[in-house]
Amino acid sequence: PRYWAVIPAAGAGRRFGGPVPKQYLAFAGRQVIDYSLAVFIDHPRIAGCVLALSPEDEWWRETAYAAHPAVQRVAGGAERSDSVAHALEALAERAAEDDWVLVHDAARPCLTRLDLDRLLEALRDEPVGALLAVPLHDTVKTAEDALGPRVEHTLPRQQLWRAYTPQAFRLGQLRQALLQCRTEGLAITDDASAIEQLGLRPLLLEGRADNIKITRPEDLPLARFFLEQQQE
Ligand code: CTP
Ligand code: MG
Repeated sequence: PRYWAVIPAAGAGRRFGGPVPKQYLAFAGRQVIDYSLAVFIDHPRIAGCVLALSPEDEWWRETAYAAHPAVQRVAGGAERSDSVAHALEALAERAAEDDWVLVHDAARPCLTRLDLDRLLEALRDEPVGALLAVPLHDTVKTAEDALGPRVEHTLPRQQLWRAYTPQAFRLGQLRQALLQCRTEGLAITDDASAIEQLGLRPLLLEGRADNIKITRPEDLPLARFFLEQQQE
């Protein structure tokens, strides 16, 4: 099989705020999205990248990889899962059903080549697919909101992981899974969730904790620091 990257970059970054979507902010001499893409563009085993952009996007064309031949653009959708689905439809025209698709957030610029290599390696002989993930170190409570947030109960921490990206699944299976979620009206925030809905169990591959998603303003300096640390 071949390996493809799908990069959802069609979000508006509402939690981050500001006039420019977070994936286009200046970041360590370039822009956030340049880093998120570069690790795939530079990897010899990645056949190509499909990038989902908002129809209102006015920033992509000013970026470093705007004219790069390995990057195919598609229109994103209302939710992240719609953006991924659109990218998979485009990919299906030139890729095989059992090719691997690695879906990676445009807002996650600190993915290292080593973690990407480890994920590709984990796909060897893997029937379902895999995602980079990080074990949780905090104790996690569920809350009952009716009377102000009060603890309902405490979750067993040994079982809890943060789901990061990339998340890698077979093209045909991920298409089917996203379609099913859509048909059933299930809101999902990552690709593994769709696969799980099919009754399958993706492999959790422990990755670097610094592969964070830029979500809120305080995440940007943190990601910048992590990137500097990686480059030392
Ligand atoms: N994304 C997308 N299409 C959408 C929504 C999100 O392609 N309709 C992308 C974002 O651009 C981002 C990734 O999915 O790279 C992860 O989503 P998230 O962190 O939620 O980004 P936003 O949706 O832009 O932010 P927010 O939820 O705060 O508005
Ligand atoms: Mg979002």
